[in-house]
Amino acid sequence: MHIDAEISRIRKNFFETIKDIKTAEQLTNVRVVYIGRKGKVSRLLREVSGLPADIRPRVGKDLNLLKNEIEKNINDISLRFSGHAAEEDIDETLPGKPFSVGGRHPLSIIRNKITEIFFSMGFSLVEGPLMEDDWHNFTALNVPEFHPSRDMHDTLYLEGKDNLLLRTHTSPVQVRVMKHNKPPLAVIVPGKCFRNDAIDASHFPVFHQIEGLWVDKDISLSDLKGVLSAFVHRLFGNVRVRFRPSYFPFTEPSIELDMGCPVCGGSGCSTCGHGGFMEIMGAGMVHPEVFRNSGYEEKYQGFAFGMGIERIAMIYYGLADIRDFYNNDLRFLEQFK
Ligand code: PHE
Repeated sequence: MHIDAEISRIRKNFFETIKDIKTAEQLTNVRVVYIGRKGKVSRLLREVSGLPADIRPRVGKDLNLLKNEIEKNINDISLRFSGHAAEEDIDETLPGKPFSVGGRHPLSIIRNKITEIFFSMGFSLVEGPLMEDDWHNFTALNVPEFHPSRDMHDTLYLEGKDNLLLRTHTSPVQVRVMKHNKPPLAVIVPGKCFRNDAIDASHFPVFHQIEGLWVDKDISLSDLKGVLSAFVHRLFGNVRVRFRPSYFPFTEPSIELDMGCPVCGGSGCSTCGHGGFMEIMGAGMVHPEVFRNSGYEEKYQGFAFGMGIERIAMIYYGLADIRDFYNNDLRFLEQFK
């Protein structure tokens, strides 16, 4: 096996030679001698076609492996010379390799747009725990024990921990903030929430909300209307805003905020159920019971609101299925970069 002996001799010589390489020029020489066009390995590669058919494939493979091995070693050594050895191989006229920088998830984009608007109105951002206790998630918020939202079907309780659950909304953070801060205060609270919902086009067991809370001595319902109208107009442009009476245990009075349907402009279409409006959040004046549970005196007033980030994002981008946010399909996600 004359050629096999030749291959191992070249290999051995190569590794002997590279031991004493001191300069980039020496390295370039070695490259030429071994894997240059007229180099030792290249010469043997050209002989492969003349070999007997039974050994041809194996010898070809051995030679290619040797060539790769030599190339890799040369490249490794070239790093020592801070790139000088590799310099000659670089064609500076070639376009650069494009690299992907990634982008934000649409839910992060919308969360940031929302928080920016409230920052500009003087709100600060706080966060609360995802694992809550029953008291903060319900009792402190004036949710009576028999209230349906305590039902096991909505709330994910932690096994073996009587009192602990995954928060079903961001409202418990209202109480946590008030317990640790004196008024006046204005905060927004973005974060994950959890409900034991069946998955469909508009429900997912993990979703996101942004809570808002503004407390001072003389905050009224008209402040709420002003702040939330400004918010809707900043995010969606010139749309109509409608406040409807509603009910939440922790606000009194409670309202729900609708915006003119961006699809039909308010004339009615299938997206808005032909009503011309889309519901975007719940809100109201903080219930005195919530203030009491947070250790606040009678003289304070405030408003709170809570919106689903997925819902806002779906309206903003005109999306029909909440599951698209979580499928991690880059063809979908890349559209929002
Ligand atoms: N927490 C309520 C919900 O999840 C929304 C809300 C927040 C309503 C604050 C009023 C005030 O539906």
